[in-house]
Amino acid sequence: MNPKRIAAERAVEFVKDGMIVGLGTGSTSYWAIHRIAEKVNEGLEIKAVASSRNSEDMAMQLGIPLIAFDEIDIIDITIDGADEVDRHGNLTKGGGGALLREKILAANSKQFIVIADETKRVELLGKFPLPVEIVPFAANLTINQLKRLQCDPVIRLLNGKPFMTDNGNLIVDCKFESIPDPEKLTKQINTIPGVAENGLFAQMANKIVTGYNDGRIEVKE
Ligand code: A5P
Repeated sequence: MNPKRIAAERAVEFVKDGMIVGLGTGSTSYWAIHRIAEKVNEGLEIKAVASSRNSEDMAMQLGIPLIAFDEIDIIDITIDGADEVDRHGNLTKGGGGALLREKILAANSKQFIVIADETKRVELLGKFPLPVEIVPFAANLTINQLKRLQCDPVIRLLNGKPFMTDNGNLIVDCKFESIPDPEKLTKQINTIPGVAENGLFAQMANKIVTGYNDGRIEVKE
């Protein structure tokens, strides 16, 4: 039993005919997108929007009908993974670099369902370095401001070069000792000019579906 897969497939049970569905990004969302595609092939009628080019490509290849953002007002349900989930349901996201688009989808969804395997559950956020998306202009100055928040920021690299998001921005992974107040830190980070968004999703999830190695699935509202 793959705990990511069982969580993802359980979450897809909440997808119903007629819905606009937000597709997440990452290895857990991979399973959700595949399950949605299976159900579409069996007759489920939905339209989808994606949180990354990768997920959009996957949806197209699997035959999930996509709809343009300018044709919708609201997303009915978004299913997405997380890097950490604390006991209050706050999340760290952005390990795959898609946090800005993911947050736009989550913030515009009637239901935001998080799917995670048990390794993602933590007491306090912070072990996973917090991804922050920043514009490339004067990046060193923005990073200096992040340092003032008592973290250790590192520009994310891919094959030795700065990783570029789908929005043409950089990701700075910020190691904090711990993040006891995600709402406060979100405000502090997002008021720094040059920051596009940060990977803290405080009190945004409506449901958290966790898959365990022994096959158990927990759905927490
Ligand atoms: C993508 O940017 C992320 O927010 C992912 O949703 C998160 O990193 C979880 O990824 P996995 O499902 O691959 O662990």
